[in-house]
Amino acid sequence: MNQLPGLAVLGAGHVGPVIARLAIKAGYPVAIATSGDPEDIALITELVIPGAQPRWASDAVADADLVVLAIPLHRFGDLDPNLLSGKVVVDAMNYWPASDGVLTAFEDGGSSQTVARRLSGSAVVKALNHIGYHELEGQARPVGAPDRRAAGVAGDDPAAVAAIADLVDRIGYDPVRLGRLRAGRVLQPGGPVFGVTLTRPEFERAVAEDARSLA
Ligand SMILES: NC(=O)c1ccc[n+]([C@@H]2O[C@H](COP(=O)([O-])OP(=O)(O)OC[C@H]3O[C@@H](n4cnc5c(N)ncnc54)[C@H](OP(=O)(O)O)[C@@H]3O)[C@@H](O)[C@H]2O)c1
Repeated sequence: MNQLPGLAVLGAGHVGPVIARLAIKAGYPVAIATSGDPEDIALITELVIPGAQPRWASDAVADADLVVLAIPLHRFGDLDPNLLSGKVVVDAMNYWPASDGVLTAFEDGGSSQTVARRLSGSAVVKALNHIGYHELEGQARPVGAPDRRAAGVAGDDPAAVAAIADLVDRIGYDPVRLGRLRAGRVLQPGGPVFGVTLTRPEFERAVAEDARSLA
């Protein structure tokens, strides 16, 4: 089997470790980082995400093909866009004014479009933001399972979308491609599939109207 692309998960809070564990189970080489010293997460990584490499964020990203942003949106401004240049970046973040505070740049429209404007050298794909961390692992199912759930993928770069749809599929969800990045708004808080896990037909029905108007 060909080696799967290397994955760097930025964020070791609630959802980052779950994404990392699922990716390791699927066979991806995975590094995980916070904004700080990897030594600080070495023990917890060994215990909670066995197989993941705790690294400095810059090193994890430099060696990765795919980077998952699993950090609070109000910390996004701390990231150097140059660090992420040339990478496929999964925006798993959501805008939560209650915890992020009011971020004017994210007040209107699709949060991933704002993320993508800042990361102009990266191929940004919105995915893995709409399922709660406590469900993401428990609801994962192998291909063909009758109760397999769907997960949305939206982006403007077809090769990047294909890579992330493949990731979503391999970690246990039917990927539903929503079209352009702007269509990823349906995955946001307040959107029709946020926080609910649906089978592919249910998901496609739920997003059909919004996605058509945004495609
Ligand atoms: N919780 C969920 O169920 C869920 C599900 C899907 C998506 N999301 C979205 O994912 C994002 C993270 O949510 P969460 O609940 O996992 O947050 P969280 O528990 O607060 O964890 C955030 C993590 O990000 C790290 N971090 C912050 N700034 C960083 C930086 N510049 N570089 C690298 N790491 C950094 C933090 O570590 P340090 O502070 O030590 O750097 C911490 O490990 C949010 O936007 C959320 O909406 C959450």
